[in-house]
Amino acid sequence: MWTKINLSSKFTLLLAAALLAGLTASGFALWNGLNRRAEQEITARALLLIDTMTAVRAYTSNNVNPLLQEEIAASPTFISESVPSFSARQVFENFRGREGYETFLYKEAALNPTNPRDLADAFEAELVTALRNDESLTNLEGYRVMNGEELFYVARPQKITAESCLACHSTPAEAPPSLVATFGPTGGFGWQLGETVGAQIIYVPTSEIQTTTRQSFALVMSIFAITFVLVLALINWLTRHTVVNPLGQVAALSRQLGDDTLQLADLEQVGLQTVAARQDELGQLAAQFKRMAQDVYTRQQLLRQQVRELRIQIDEAKKEEAVQEIVGSEFFRELEGKAAEMRARQQHRTKANREDSEKLKEE
Ligand code: HEC
Repeated sequence: MWTKINLSSKFTLLLAAALLAGLTASGFALWNGLNRRAEQEITARALLLIDTMTAVRAYTSNNVNPLLQEEIAASPTFISESVPSFSARQVFENFRGREGYETFLYKEAALNPTNPRDLADAFEAELVTALRNDESLTNLEGYRVMNGEELFYVARPQKITAESCLACHSTPAEAPPSLVATFGPTGGFGWQLGETVGAQIIYVPTSEIQTTTRQSFALVMSIFAITFVLVLALINWLTRHTVVNPLGQVAALSRQLGDDTLQLADLEQVGLQTVAARQDELGQLAAQFKRMAQDVYTRQQLLRQQVRELRIQIDEAKKEEAVQEIVGSEFFRELEGKAAEMRARQQHRTKANREDSEKLKEE
């Protein structure tokens, strides 16, 4: 099968196979690379947001809360603005209100929260437990699906790092009465210094970045594919014009030479002349072929001439032989004998006649 295919198709098939393999390999590498990039970008976004939230918490803890100490103690209603968790959540809600960030989520998930809304769900509880069990963990990240949407999360342990936290989170008796009045005496108490009480979790949607990844992939791959087709067409055209067609011409002429149908005029055709004028290997081959074909042609003509002459000579020799055969035969020799006899008799007769006439004259 393969041996029957012509050179041009072979080139095309081999090139197409090589380019296709290249395209698949580069597509694979590109897809992996783009996905890794997308992951890095998502992670970077999540880390940026979580650090921002931590900064907001620190600001409330260090700058706002101290200013409100007296008001908290005196106020019958709890001043939530003094709470780091509240400010972080509030800032994030403002952020989520902006276009494009609606699906982002921020949660300070606790196993025993002050605000029931912060209660860790089953998935988050596992994260909190993992962070509680391994103190060396600073980050947990991964993917989860919520409400049909895939989200990337980064979770960090929430530790009671300062005494100041215990002012509200140790016991209901020590906490501001307004806090207990608002949130009740059960949640968010009994926390210890150094204890990991929950996890600060940020959720970043992946769909948008994945869409961009797919679009970039499709774009780059179509550019690759178009380039691939163009390169294939170009190489095909080039090999056809510089190698396959000239070779085909030489091959056709050599076939003619073999069949003994080649004429000198065939060797003068423009196609062969153009190839033979080239300096490259094919040009040398064509020029060499032309010289060789000319030689063969002249020699063949000469041979034909010689054969013709030889035939004439043979014909003559045959004739000669036939004559010899006739001349050498018994019958011919007999015939010759008889002829000689007849000639002798004739001579004898004329001689006798002459003597007779001479006698007559004398008389
Ligand atoms: C002034 C009292 C007060 C102080 C001080 C305070 N918190 Fe809170 N904390 C609260 C209240 C009230 C909430 C619930 C806020 C809300 O979401 O409405 C809360 C919420 C939290 C939450 C979210 C889970 C939950 O219980 O709802 C965490 C985690 C937390 N605080 C940790 C800390 C840490 C750590 C500190 C010290 C840096 C701290 N808190 C200081 C009152 C306080």
